[in-house]
Order: sequence, then structure tokens, then C-alpha cells
Amino acid sequence: MDIKNIFIIGSGFMGGGIAQVSAQAGYKVKLYDFKKGLSTQAKAGIEKRWASNVEKGRIEAKDKDAYAANLTPVDDLKEAAGSDLIIEAIYENFDAKVAVLTEVEGYVADTTIIASNTSSISLTALGGKLKIPERFIGMHFFSPVPVMKLLEIIPGLRTTKETLAVAYDVGGKLNKTMITAKDMPGFVVNRMLDTFIAEAIRLLDEGVGSVEDIDNGCKAGLNHPMGPLELSDMAGVDIVDAVLTVFHAELGDKYTPTPLLRKMIDSGFLGKKTGIGFYVYDEKGKITGVNPVFQK
Ligand SMILES: NC(=O)c1ccc[n+]([C@@H]2O[C@H](COP(=O)([O-])OP(=O)(O)OC[C@H]3O[C@@H](n4cnc5c(N)ncnc54)[C@H](O)[C@@H]3O)[C@@H](O)[C@H]2O)c1
Repeated sequence: MDIKNIFIIGSGFMGGGIAQVSAQAGYKVKLYDFKKGLSTQAKAGIEKRWASNVEKGRIEAKDKDAYAANLTPVDDLKEAAGSDLIIEAIYENFDAKVAVLTEVEGYVADTTIIASNTSSISLTALGGKLKIPERFIGMHFFSPVPVMKLLEIIPGLRTTKETLAVAYDVGGKLNKTMITAKDMPGFVVNRMLDTFIAEAIRLLDEGVGSVEDIDNGCKAGLNHPMGPLELSDMAGVDIVDAVLTVFHAELGDKYTPTPLLRKMIDSGFLGKKTGIGFYVYDEKGKITGVNPVFQK
């Protein structure tokens, strides 16, 4: 099946990024959000990024105009009619996703492929709520979408090979490196990442290394661009805890969230968004030092 028209549900951080790379790849893209005017705002932000790329000589002005012509912001989900591929990128909430996916399924042809960018919800469980689960699949992009190469593709139990082939075809045109993951909590990459972050927090809790020792160890010793504790602050300490709680419930005791995580949440140390996590942040989000409770 040749995909020409992509409809993206949710114009936030991820939806905007997916819209940007899809328009750049030549797809006709409609970007939707249930908050009126938000998709127009998102398009303005994307156009600024293209303008900056023109200034830096990375693309030509005519490319920017062509990309912009490919991207249409819309305020009505019914505009999904006629799309070949739907990519859902709304809040990470099962009921909200089911509501929007079942509604959009009523507006599109039976042949339209429907994908979700969920980072933790079971694709089989979401697909089970749809009229045609065979055409439903996970397309898990990484943030920021225009920068990160990976696209993790997750078929649900009833997803067909044809649907998988379409997801691979689109990912290839978006210039992504693709991997296929089984529909299990965390898929491949987040299962490794959150387990790694949990171990880093355990090391801190046991006093094996300081905040800086752990992060610098990963940067200088493993060539990671950012240490796991800083990454945890960026994602949100509460989000890391929520992910590990799911892993624990579904995968067993090996994934028990460390007690320090709960203590941090109880103390309001959620990371960058509260201005303090493992590190302290200024108003611009720059690290000013290690949280005093973790100083040696
Ligand atoms: N942020 C990340 O790093 C990341 C990475 C991979 C996957 N994801 C997944 O992508 C999805 C979106 O995450 P995000 O970070 O872009 O969130 P976000 O909060 O930036 O954006 C979500 C957008 O969806 C809109 N929305 C919510 N409910 C809607 C509905 N019913 N209909 C239409 N629009 C609706 C909101 O108004 C908002 O603009 C989530 O499932 C998340 O788990 C996020």
C-alpha cells in the first residue's frame, strides 16, 4: 500500500516532530489537536525550525516552502477522512487513546493504517478496542523526532504482516533506523533505559557513587552524551517511577522501584520541571549544581 496522506493526532512535542519529518519526506500531512488553534501554533514552531535551517544553510528557501505546503493544521478530527495513515500522539492515557482511536476509525476507510506513538501502553490492548485490530501498529518515535534516528515498530498480536510492511516503508522514507519489538512493557529501548536509570539510582542510594560520579562515569566511560541521573531529571523522576512500577507489576521483582525514587517524589524533587531533582536548575533549565541532599 502506497502511503500519501498522513493524519497526526496530537500537536504536542512528539506530534509536532512527527509532522515535521513527514512533511519533509514529501507526505501530505494534516496535524490535529483537540485544543483549537494548537496545531496552527505547532506549525508556526515547525516553520521557525525550517527558517533557522535555511539561515544555517542546511536547506534552501524553496525546500522550506515545499515542506510548509505539505503541512496543514486542522481543528477537526473528521478531517482524517481520506488519509492513508493515522499516527496518534496524544497523552499517555489508555482511555483517552481508546476514545480518539475508536472515533477516528469511524471516519476513515477500512484500509487506512492506524498507528500509535505510545511509549508504554500495550498495542494489543489498544488494538483490541478497535473494529479492525489487524491494521493497527505501534510506531514509537524518539525525541526530538527530527534528531533521533530510531523508530521502534511494535506489532500487536493481531497486527498483519501487511501493516508491518507499511510501517517499515514509511519509517524508511522518514530516514529512520528501525527495529521491531515484541509488545512487552518498555518494548526494547525503554526496558533497557529505565532499568539502567533504576540501577544508577540504586548506586546513589547505596552510596557507591555520588550524583556526579555516576553521571560522569557514564559520560566518560560509556560515551553517553548525558548521565542517567540527569536524564531522569529531564524525563521526570515521577515518570521514571511510573514506568518502573509498570515493569514491576508486569515483569516481576527484578524491576522494583528503588525507595529513593519514592522519597524524591514525596520531596517534590521531580527533576527539571520542578527546578530540582538530582540536580538544581535555574529558570532557563540550566544545571546550577547537585541537589544539596546528595552532596558528599
Ligand atoms: N515526550 C517524549 O519524549 C516521548 C517519546 C516517545 C513517545 N512519547 C509518547 O508520545 C505521546 C505524546 O507525547 P508528547 O510528549 O508529545 O505529549 P504532549 O503533552 O507534548 O502532547 C500531547 C498533545 O496531545 C493533545 N491531545 C490530548 N488528548 C487529545 C485528544 N483526545 N485529541 C487530540 N489531541 C489530544 C494535547 O492537547 C497535546 O497537545 C505519548 O503517548 C507519549 O508517551 C513521548
